[in-house]
Amino acid sequence: MSSKEKIDIAKLPQHIAIIMDGNGRWAKQKGKVRVFGHQNGVKAVKETIEAAAELGINFVTLYAFSTENWSRPKYEVDALMQLLVKTINSETKTLNKNNIRLLAIGDLESLPKNCKKELMEAINSTSQNTRTTLVLALSYSSKWEIIDAVKQISLKVKNNEISIDDIDQNLFSSFLNTSSIPDPELLIRTSGEYRISNFLLWQIAYSELYFTEKLWPDFRKEDLYEAIVDFQSRERRFGKTS
Ligand code: IPE
Ligand code: IPE
Ligand code: MG
Repeated sequence: MSSKEKIDIAKLPQHIAIIMDGNGRWAKQKGKVRVFGHQNGVKAVKETIEAAAELGINFVTLYAFSTENWSRPKYEVDALMQLLVKTINSETKTLNKNNIRLLAIGDLESLPKNCKKELMEAINSTSQNTRTTLVLALSYSSKWEIIDAVKQISLKVKNNEISIDDIDQNLFSSFLNTSSIPDPELLIRTSGEYRISNFLLWQIAYSELYFTEKLWPDFRKEDLYEAIVDFQSRERRFGKTS
């Protein structure tokens, strides 16, 4: 029996966030260069989005490139940016065909010009789609996002546009890149690493965490189903008693 049949459609998470990790190790296991792993990660991305859309998941956020990833060797960073441009270019049609909207979070100004241009074009072209929203975290880190929100709020306080007493969780959330996106109920990380790596720290306050040994290029629909089944077996208490 596929895990898909065990999923309770009435209790789907609205938003799944994924730390796609293990591309480099996947390539190394095959005696190839790291970039080969990134290239093969695209198939896993497509499968994941397709599976999520078919199930009726409203939001999928994929951690594609962190602020810290800029410190990797230049050839790897360049290859990742090129792959991003190429993939957005070739997949926008499919996103539109499948009624999937694209969004991006992160310091998009720091992306290479052509990369930002492709991304913005795809975001505009898919903006009216309603089935599922795919959020790409690019040049993203949670601490960057939080500091950015603090700066924006501080400026508003300084200009007397808001008072300090107005600052609460809702107001703070509204200054994050994710203001239009509900918090993820489920966070998945592949490759057997048990850490968050600066991803959505504020937003995952009460998310269920799911770790799998699978390396990202091997991640398939069935793996997403398994994560959802596991999620549905948990009791989310939010600090209360059962
Ligand atoms: C994840 O795979 C992709 C990005 C971080 C861009 P890695 O490149 O981190 O692969 P490993 O973790 O070194 O195997
Ligand atoms: C996290 O993976 C970032 C992305 C998946 C884009 P990393 O491979 O960069 O994280 P660390 O260095 O293992 O924590
Ligand atoms: Mg990694």
